[in-house]
Amino acid sequence: MSQNEAKRLAGEKAIDYVEDGMIVGVGTGSTVAFFIDALATVKDRIKGAVSSSEQSTQQLRGHGIEVLDLNATGKLSLYVDGADECDGNKRLIKGGGAALTREKIIAEASEKFVCIIDPAKQVPVLGRFPLPVEVIPMARSLVAREILAMTGGQPVWRDGVTTDNGNWILDIHNLSIVDPVGMEQALNQIPGVVSVGLFARRPADVVIVGGQPPIVL
Ligand code: A5P
Repeated sequence: MSQNEAKRLAGEKAIDYVEDGMIVGVGTGSTVAFFIDALATVKDRIKGAVSSSEQSTQQLRGHGIEVLDLNATGKLSLYVDGADECDGNKRLIKGGGAALTREKIIAEASEKFVCIIDPAKQVPVLGRFPLPVEVIPMARSLVAREILAMTGGQPVWRDGVTTDNGNWILDIHNLSIVDPVGMEQALNQIPGVVSVGLFARRPADVVIVGGQPPIVL
């Protein structure tokens, strides 16, 4: 089965978690794009969505799904999003699509975080995928130096990419993240860091691995 097909099956399976009258938190990426297409088929059953990116907002609106402001909705029952890596404890690396900060905000605001992935995203230890960190532009070099000293990993500026929040991304290469909660906490302390693409303090609650049939962890 192709990776794309596995993404589609994971995205469609997540519809099982959508209940009548819900406002659904919606992530970003190619797997989520399949979820949004599936959500459109049940759009009359939901109140709307809170979106983690301009990209997802456009797709939701294109389907006629109302996009609401998190400040107005309060806590959400459900958040559905993809990931770049997932370990055996449902801890994640996210941010390959540069939407990590809004994704983290919605994950924090949600009671249930359902993560939809294809099998290639499963790893024993996080870090093979370069860890994205969103930084305030003026702090880019400072943060890069501190990351190098703190982790030994190689921070690389994702040149040409500006986030939806007007910030920049550093991708940290060559990490083996044996203590994801500790690393998330430590990186968050560096002045100029907006957010870290490690979802360990608040991991996923449910992971759906796309396949025939999809596996729910
Ligand atoms: C977006 O910033 C990321 O966190 C995505 O959730 C992640 O990159 C997954 O992307 P795909 O579903 O496209 O693989």
